[in-house]
Amino acid sequence: MKICCIGAGYVGGPTMAMIAKQCPQISVHVVDLNQTRIDAWNSDSLPIYEPGLDAVVREARGRNLQFSTNVDEAIAAADMIFISVNTPTKTFGMGAGRAANLEFIEKCARQIARVSVGHKIVVEKSTLPVRTAEAVKLILGNASSDASFDVLSNPEFLAEGTAIQDLLEPDRVLIGGESQAAIQALADVYSHWVPAERILTTNLWSSELSKLTANAFLAQRVSSINSISALCEATGADVDEVARAIGTDSRIGPKFLKSSVGFGGSCFQKDILNLVYLCEHFGLREVAAYWEQVVSMNDYQKRRFAQNIVKTLFNTVSNKKLAIWGWAFKKDTNDTRESAAIYVCRDLLLEHARLHVYDPRVPESQIRADLEHVLQDENGEISPNKAALLQNVTIADSCEQAADTAHAIAVLTEWDEFRELDFERIYQRMPQPAFVFDGRNILDRTRLETIGFEIHSIGRCHQRRRLADT
Ligand code: UDX
Ligand code: ADP
Repeated sequence: MKICCIGAGYVGGPTMAMIAKQCPQISVHVVDLNQTRIDAWNSDSLPIYEPGLDAVVREARGRNLQFSTNVDEAIAAADMIFISVNTPTKTFGMGAGRAANLEFIEKCARQIARVSVGHKIVVEKSTLPVRTAEAVKLILGNASSDASFDVLSNPEFLAEGTAIQDLLEPDRVLIGGESQAAIQALADVYSHWVPAERILTTNLWSSELSKLTANAFLAQRVSSINSISALCEATGADVDEVARAIGTDSRIGPKFLKSSVGFGGSCFQKDILNLVYLCEHFGLREVAAYWEQVVSMNDYQKRRFAQNIVKTLFNTVSNKKLAIWGWAFKKDTNDTRESAAIYVCRDLLLEHARLHVYDPRVPESQIRADLEHVLQDENGEISPNKAALLQNVTIADSCEQAADTAHAIAVLTEWDEFRELDFERIYQRMPQPAFVFDGRNILDRTRLETIGFEIHSIGRCHQRRRLADT
């Protein structure tokens, strides 16, 4: 059995490494057009940071796992081809800002059609709008050679930061398709380590829609608790207490109720917008509006956080040094796609703040590229005024360095290392009053207040207001 995976990103890389680790008899070849990315997969410094990934790759690479840019060769040799390329939200033309850009998927399908000989099972791994498989099938059906194809949908549910654990013990593996033989062939791969009762099979369209729906429901929970956080701040309730109280109801459950500065990541917003576009396409305006509100609430939460910083710092952050702790969209990943930090920092830069950013895993080049991107106009250009704002960004080597002489600290990613710092020392190096805006509610509020910080958490009444109330 030979597997090829097109796309060596956050999904393709870890998933294929796990298949190779668990199935030594299967040869797994991961290909990508990006030579730098492939070189990194072949080195000691992998292109993505994911706890536990190094060990999995080290075990299988060179044995039955290889990474290369030989796309044609890998496709031709494979029995099963996973498509795991990026499907970003369209930025132009019809459906801009909502629909998925399927350019890369289409290119893959055409390439598979061109170089294949014999029978191949083609597996959609990337998250796709419902009925993409139809387009893939159509393109493959027109292959000039005598190749034949079965198309399956096998969406990936791993979350970044916990990808290895999620792959090792998935809640479920979902396989959608028409051909029982093809479904069985893919189920046989997973059954090397996933119990049979966790392998669910559906028709193609249900599988595609389940992925969008799962992400929409998860994001909706975060937006729901974030909406309540605003009410908590206004009333004196504590959002973490509310989350704990409602989470003990077994019908609601405790997971995914952590209020934050806003969800990020490559999936949630993209998938909801995709769902919205689909609903609009089918004339389901009310359904589209319902789901779109999940994204609007998330935008509100990010905006509200930045506004709160400005308001609290006496209505001006102009020329003030602010420490930004965390850039990744969540802890334990170096992925910054749609990270709340990008939007909060954009708003602060537009207020002329001076930002000193520290993230333990995200390189300076990525932070600068994210900010440049978000300051561009719709033509992809950046005005001289906005370009000048980028000079107000400094990348720090540590939390302490970022906070040194800063008016405020904003925690934007919940990295564990932010919890246990010498806050007394940090406090002494900041002008007073020293502010902390905890966008993840991870810091020990009592301890920080005892030191003298004025701490503003998400979904909790802040100190000044509480003092005024008593
Ligand atoms: C998500 C889905 O969880 C996963 O199943 C799917 O395959 C891909 O999309 P991912 O985006 O990697 O995974 O991370 P996830 O843990 O879902 O977090 C997404 C965002 O929501 C992060 O910014 C996170 O900080 C935020 N979040 C999550 C909260 O703010 N509060 C929570 O309670 C949970
Ligand atoms: P994801 O989070 O879905 O894995 P990424 O952007 O991290 O998304 O990875 C997708 C990868 O797919 C990128 O490394 C990109 O270079 C690769 N890719 C896109 N189109 C093609 C193609 N036609 N052939 C090979 N690789 C491709």
